[in-house]
Amino acid sequence: MSLVTQKRDFLSISDFSTDELTRLLNRAHRLKVGKEDSQLIGKSLAMIFRKSSTRTRISFEVGMTQLGGHALFLSDHDSQIGRGEPIHDTAKVLSRYVDGIMIRTFGHEEVEELSRHASIPVINGLTDLLHPCQVVADLQTVAEEFGPDYSERTVAWIGDGNNMANSWLNAAYRLGFSVRLACPEGYDPDPLIFERAKQMADVLLTRDPCEAVQGADVVTTDVWASMGQEEEARERMAAFTGFSVDDTLMQQAFPSAIFLHCLPAHRGEEVSSSVIDGPQSRIFNEAENRIHTQKAILLELLG
Ligand code: CP
Ligand code: NVA
Repeated sequence: MSLVTQKRDFLSISDFSTDELTRLLNRAHRLKVGKEDSQLIGKSLAMIFRKSSTRTRISFEVGMTQLGGHALFLSDHDSQIGRGEPIHDTAKVLSRYVDGIMIRTFGHEEVEELSRHASIPVINGLTDLLHPCQVVADLQTVAEEFGPDYSERTVAWIGDGNNMANSWLNAAYRLGFSVRLACPEGYDPDPLIFERAKQMADVLLTRDPCEAVQGADVVTTDVWASMGQEEEARERMAAFTGFSVDDTLMQQAFPSAIFLHCLPAHRGEEVSSSVIDGPQSRIFNEAENRIHTQKAILLELLG
């Protein structure tokens, strides 16, 4: 009988079953309210950042410290990754030193390659395709507002069909809530992720932000040009005209609706100051929840 246990990764929300995702969110809640004190004493996490970060870096690094472990920050500028060391060699070398790897990069296939060659858990800290850790924190924020029954909720996504939109669709696929996306033509979410979500959830794609927010409990958006798309910023600004979340749009959602944004935000572009700094905004609870959900993910995978 083999005693080898399969390592677990978190590359996508859909890597976790509905039960596992629910357990993860319950664990994040217990960590937040001080009802769980599991630790990762002596464990180390390598954090590869090929794109910038504030929240993801800090929440993983402080999260590991709070759990009694240690995190190492590795960037393109000061590791051999930036000089072209193959990802499969990096995966094998890191597997000899640390207990888990978190990576933020461009192509999702790079994270999948890292995972294939690493013998330790790999966590996706954002790719061009997905941002699963952020959406787990967003789900915790939704449960704090409306309770744990996600199937009752409707989430309106306004703007770019980007890594955040795709991860919301994966969350709907697992938890069965409604997602209504308003994206300009040419900026739709990933078609395979969209079709899969439709099998399990009420999912709508429209060009009309007003249609998307009707009956929404959560209105959420993100920057119009993500990291790596800076050169398209001007063209995108024109394409996304009319897709700003402002007071007029918020008024068409339920009066109890909350506003979420993964941050960083561009006030006056995808969201008005009055909305992001207004009474319906939960952006700082959402940012705080990154640390609780990161710790829950770390404990599930490395514990
Ligand atoms: N929301 C988010 O992932 O923020 P950072 O880019 O600062 O990590
Ligand atoms: N969509 C954004 C999210 C940043 C946290 C980006 O990829 O830059």
